[in-house]
Amino acid sequence: MKVVVGITGGIAAYKAVGVVRALVLAGHDVHVVPTAAALRFVGRPTLEAISRNPVESDLYEGVAEVRHVALGQSADLIVIAPATANTLAKLAAGLADDLLGTTVLASTAPLVVAPAMHTEMWAHAATQANVRTLEARGVVLVGPESGQLTGTDSGAGRMSEPTDIVTAALDVALAANPDLDRTVVPETSDRLAGRKVLISAGGTREPLDPVRFLGNSSTGSQGVALAEAARDRGAEVVLLAANLEVPAPAGVRVVDVGTAAAMLAAAGVEALDADVVIMAAAVADYRPSTVAQAKLKKDDLGDTLSIDLVRNPDVLASIAANRPRPGQVVVGFAAETERDPQRRLALGREKIARKGADFLVLNEVGFERGFGPGQTAVTVIDRSGRVVGEASGTKTSVADAILDLVAPA
Ligand code: CTP
Repeated sequence: MKVVVGITGGIAAYKAVGVVRALVLAGHDVHVVPTAAALRFVGRPTLEAISRNPVESDLYEGVAEVRHVALGQSADLIVIAPATANTLAKLAAGLADDLLGTTVLASTAPLVVAPAMHTEMWAHAATQANVRTLEARGVVLVGPESGQLTGTDSGAGRMSEPTDIVTAALDVALAANPDLDRTVVPETSDRLAGRKVLISAGGTREPLDPVRFLGNSSTGSQGVALAEAARDRGAEVVLLAANLEVPAPAGVRVVDVGTAAAMLAAAGVEALDADVVIMAAAVADYRPSTVAQAKLKKDDLGDTLSIDLVRNPDVLASIAANRPRPGQVVVGFAAETERDPQRRLALGREKIARKGADFLVLNEVGFERGFGPGQTAVTVIDRSGRVVGEASGTKTSVADAILDLVAPA
């Protein structure tokens, strides 16, 4: 599930790293939102390395992507650890003067907070009134515990242990939405070692004449990131490269395929002994019915030009239907412009049924989203249409998450 971990400015912020790590190791997609004060206690590089996602804290970064509400809207769970007295007050009042505040207000996900502060601050009538307000609103508090506090003090106010916070938070999220997956995804780095992984990347170009083609916006970055990730796990990787706009990775065998027909021919051969086939390329569904042998001239063509197109073979469907042996894992991609997540999921379910693949990686694309380097967000479904995982972040981190989900046991 997608979890936002808010970290606020208390000394217990260092223990929040344990919360992030436990969630990541349990297979969740974790996005950390520290307040400015939290970053005085724990550094951004630590949080990025542990969460495996970029860390944003500034309300004014990524304004074009409306990031101040996007994280909250897409979260399945928000955990704030530690939550200072100041944070409890801001949450109770609904203040939104930083990224964490806007994220919480923009979200309908369950909110779990782990307070940490000195005993006097915890016992103060203002703090207790804020706690009652939050609880009445359905916010779940974990702790605080009694014990050693900063300095020589001890008493109520110590943040609960990270594993207790994570266990309680996942319980809350699952109670709110039983469809979410709690399963711990084991570290899978060696499941692909020694296996052959066939990956297609890029976009096919269907020629009209010797110099022109019908193409698409795919650059090949996600497929290349998958090839690198599989290579790093010790797999023998073959990359079917369709007009890549990014460099092909070292240490993988690259087979250049320009068109859908060339992709089908190469895939048919390479899939024979592949353990995993991942079709990330954007393959043209149609090609010009004839390819002019000389450059088309507008003086010959006139003011309008109609091009007759014929259907291309479906490479993915053909691989899935002609598996050389049971156990081969076949993964397709579906880039959809549908913006509504539920309707997009419905399109994905229909597509995986039509293609006969084992998994389908769904993402949203548009004129300005989904292509090239940068951030992406995917939902992975299996052949029964069940959501088996979600991931967002760089194409490299998403590639890792996809391999975790589809690598055979
Ligand atoms: N694909 C393929 N051969 C084709 C078209 C698509 O192998 N001729 C593969 C892509 O590599 C991808 C998956 O099928 O893994 C889904 O591609 P997409 O273009 O989304 O599917 P379409 O069948 O074209 O569905 P639609 O046009 O209805 O969106």
